[in-house]
Amino acid sequence: MNITIIGTGYVGLVSGACFSEFGFNVTCIDKDKNKIDSLKEGVIPIYEPSLEDLVKKNMTAKRLSFSTNLCDVFKDSNAIFIAVGTPTNLNNNKADLKYIYDVIREIADLIELNDNPKLLVTKSTVPVGTGKEIESYILNYRTELKVGKHFEVASNPEFLREGSAIEDFMRPDRVICGVESAFAKSILQTLYRPLNLRETPILFSKRETAELIKYASNGFLATKITFINEMADICEKVGADVQEVAKGIGLDGRIGSKFLHPGPGFGGSCFPKDTRALAEIGKEFKARTKLIETVINVNEARKINMVKKIKKAIGVLDKKTISILGLTFKPNTDDVRESPSLVIVPELLKLTKNINVYDPAGMPNAKKMIEFKGVTWKENTFSCIANTDALVIITEWNEFRALDLNKVKEALNEPIIIDLRNIYKHDLMVEAGIKYISVGRGSI
Ligand SMILES: NC(=O)c1ccc[n+]([C@@H]2O[C@H](COP(=O)([O-])OP(=O)(O)OC[C@H]3O[C@@H](n4cnc5c(N)ncnc54)[C@H](O)[C@@H]3O)[C@@H](O)[C@H]2O)c1
Repeated sequence: MNITIIGTGYVGLVSGACFSEFGFNVTCIDKDKNKIDSLKEGVIPIYEPSLEDLVKKNMTAKRLSFSTNLCDVFKDSNAIFIAVGTPTNLNNNKADLKYIYDVIREIADLIELNDNPKLLVTKSTVPVGTGKEIESYILNYRTELKVGKHFEVASNPEFLREGSAIEDFMRPDRVICGVESAFAKSILQTLYRPLNLRETPILFSKRETAELIKYASNGFLATKITFINEMADICEKVGADVQEVAKGIGLDGRIGSKFLHPGPGFGGSCFPKDTRALAEIGKEFKARTKLIETVINVNEARKINMVKKIKKAIGVLDKKTISILGLTFKPNTDDVRESPSLVIVPELLKLTKNINVYDPAGMPNAKKMIEFKGVTWKENTFSCIANTDALVIITEWNEFRALDLNKVKEALNEPIIIDLRNIYKHDLMVEAGIKYISVGRGSI
């Protein structure tokens, strides 16, 4: 079985490496020549634990290769996965499908009339109905082609999380496949057969159902985070502890304990854009998702509220220097897309020009972003903290979790820590003589 994956980003590269680890021949395609050139040299363009070893192992075994040229591998491909980005279209908040349709035209041009049918699989997160639209688009674009005889379109949304992407792909909770024929089903069954050993549920459904499952999952998780964030706000007013509330409700099997960690609001390359797209899908089909619309608004407001919280803790900021630890939207990734830091840092820069920042993996990406213009980049935790008037923790990287608090206190001009991820215990900070403000634990 030969697989081609178009779009070699977080999803495409991880999927390609994992499918090749399953034993299939995989070619990952990207239009970014620099990315493909460095991958051919074994240099991984993203930070993702264990990915480098997996890529190198399968390149050496000649099961995984990289190219910018789809036409070199198209003829021999049984399944072509599309894993390009689907960012928010800023004009209408819907998912922007321009990268998807660039790829579809390229594919449609390469389909040969006397060849076996090609299975096109959308792994990108795409609005409900996109599979059907892709089919119609290709039929209009090349009127001599027929569905079933020359091509088919299936949906196989991806649920991996950056930071644990390999584990998520190799040991998923479930695999979702939206298919319209036995042909599509049999190819996807073959590709995911290696997961049978672990009895991973592989759900087959209509394409539209599979497409909606992806948005419904992200919408639900974003709602869960937003819910606990609101509970954290109540806790701060009434003197309750949100972590105990989360534990207390999470032990209820109907609720579950995951995704009940309060913080500065959700971010990343998926939740913000997928909730916006879901809200727009609801509007388009006259089935408004007012809950999701509210989640989006509450989450946006939360990032600004975090700035107010920091201001309240530190006081007048214009003569102060602040250190910030963590810029990525979560630990173990270099991804800063829609990270809360992209709102919090520029808002703080309006109040003081003196901001030191450090992130273990996110700084190369962050340095490209206008939002961080004016900050002072630091090479490690303590050079970031040294001689600053307060420390703000935005991302819960492991290396920030067990800092020597005496050393931190010595390094700071004033011993104030605003921990937006609740990685420390209040008592420990009191003991160390540090003023400690966290989220939803009765402090501020
Ligand atoms: N990142 C995640 O954690 C995650 C998880 C689940 C689903 N998804 C979804 O998967 C999709 C991809 O996300 P990502 O984070 O991997 O994106 P990404 O931006 O990291 O990668 C996309 C890649 O596609 C390439 N590309 C764009 N147009 C191309 C073309 N015409 N031909 C070849 N290559 C092209 C880009 O150069 C880029 O390398 C999105 O729809 C996203 O919502 C992402």
